[in-house]
Amino acid sequence: MRVSVFGLGYVGAVTSACFAREGHSVIGVDVDPYKLRLIQEGRAPIVEANLEPFLQEGIRSGRLRVTDSTEEAVRESDLSLICVGTPSKENGDLTTTYLERVAEQIGQALRQKDAYHIVVVRSTVLPGTTEEIVLPILEEASGKRVNEGFGLGVNPEFLREGSAIADFYDPPFTIVGAHRPEDAETIAQLYESVKAQLFLTNIRTAEMIKYACNAFHAVKITFANEIGMLCKAEGVDSHEVMRIFCADTKLNISARYLTPGFAFGGSCLPKDLRALTYRARSNDVALPMLESVLPSNRLQIEQTVKLVARQRKRRIGLFGLSFKPGTDDLRESPLVELAEQLIGKGYKLLIHDPNVCYAALHGSNKAYIEREIPHIREILRENADEVVQHAELLIIGHLSADLRESLPAKVREGQVVVDLARAFHPDQIRGEYIGLYW
Ligand SMILES: NC(=O)c1ccc[n+]([C@@H]2O[C@H](COP(=O)([O-])OP(=O)(O)OC[C@H]3O[C@@H](n4cnc5c(N)ncnc54)[C@H](O)[C@@H]3O)[C@@H](O)[C@H]2O)c1
Repeated sequence: MRVSVFGLGYVGAVTSACFAREGHSVIGVDVDPYKLRLIQEGRAPIVEANLEPFLQEGIRSGRLRVTDSTEEAVRESDLSLICVGTPSKENGDLTTTYLERVAEQIGQALRQKDAYHIVVVRSTVLPGTTEEIVLPILEEASGKRVNEGFGLGVNPEFLREGSAIADFYDPPFTIVGAHRPEDAETIAQLYESVKAQLFLTNIRTAEMIKYACNAFHAVKITFANEIGMLCKAEGVDSHEVMRIFCADTKLNISARYLTPGFAFGGSCLPKDLRALTYRARSNDVALPMLESVLPSNRLQIEQTVKLVARQRKRRIGLFGLSFKPGTDDLRESPLVELAEQLIGKGYKLLIHDPNVCYAALHGSNKAYIEREIPHIREILRENADEVVQHAELLIIGHLSADLRESLPAKVREGQVVVDLARAFHPDQIRGEYIGLYW
């Protein structure tokens, strides 16, 4: 493919060198003449293992060249990758000045070009940046409409400095967000020789994935360091702890617990977090991230109460009361807390949870229910239909497999469904469907 790369810094230089090596015809553009000269001479503008030989090979073969002319680069390529910097402003927001400038330059160059051209943002940008900042500038400067005169996409970069070339060939995945599926396919063709899972998605999702990844990486490092701090205070070798911790690829290093939804609870997680952070405080060890977990968890309940309040319905049906499906354990269940708050605010609440109903009648939790939450026992209903009929608003905490199947058909027109578990797709629900975070 014929590709132009705008911005020859860490991302742009590596991307250009690797694409040229993979047989694409690459034109690199930068506003810095020094960087252009270095690359032209086959010298790396940054310190990065193996970059220089790749650049040399690209220049020698003629598959890589550089220019300061946007017009030439756009004219002689079919696709432009924007790799300019997006540094932090003082207030933490993203600087989009370089992005805006380069979009304007590419737009002006597109004015002179008849053929369809795809513009791809590879810089890390917050959701909405491509469609709300880059797109209008491109349309204004080019006098063309997106998807007609030019295509638009996002293709975030997952390289790590120091192993950038190796990461280019072995990325965690290739993400392409685009307006038109045809454009996504074209962008993906750039990576034909790279063996990685390919995800084609929309532009905002592609933008957000990069932030989710980097936020998670930062959280992992901070988690390991906070565990390390406490280990040190306790005379435990943190590397031994984390080595064994990482051997658990079922619960620890896995997709488990990574689905957005309602708060966690139960007899272990809150208790153990409290004990851990208490021990740290007793040892004068600060664990700011772990200390923030329970307050953040409480926020999930508060936000759900507010979400329900905004619907202005008084009669509520709650599905699920135990702290997760498949158990009757009510200890520190966030759904019990939610129910308590709703009752306290005067809502007329009925609850269906078959496991808790069983426990209230027969199980070992009977005494707990009678002692701790007798008022909740009174509003438990064995019959799900009774709860649906009573409610103007249904809250889905969790559901049995049977109810997942049968509940949508029971929902009436005008009823509101607040789904905390992503049990349903909006199309399944006749009433108004509100997903917690989707
Ligand atoms: N550095 C990394 O490891 C890394 C990894 C993944 C994603 N990213 C993201 O990629 C983007 C680029 O990061 P970087 O570290 O390569 O930045 P960088 O500052 O090293 O390079 C940016 C380059 O863009 C050039 N530039 C600025 N305006 C231009 C214009 N109008 N036309 C042409 N060139 C122009 C600059 O001269 C500079 O050479 C950022 O959004 C960053 O967050 C970086």
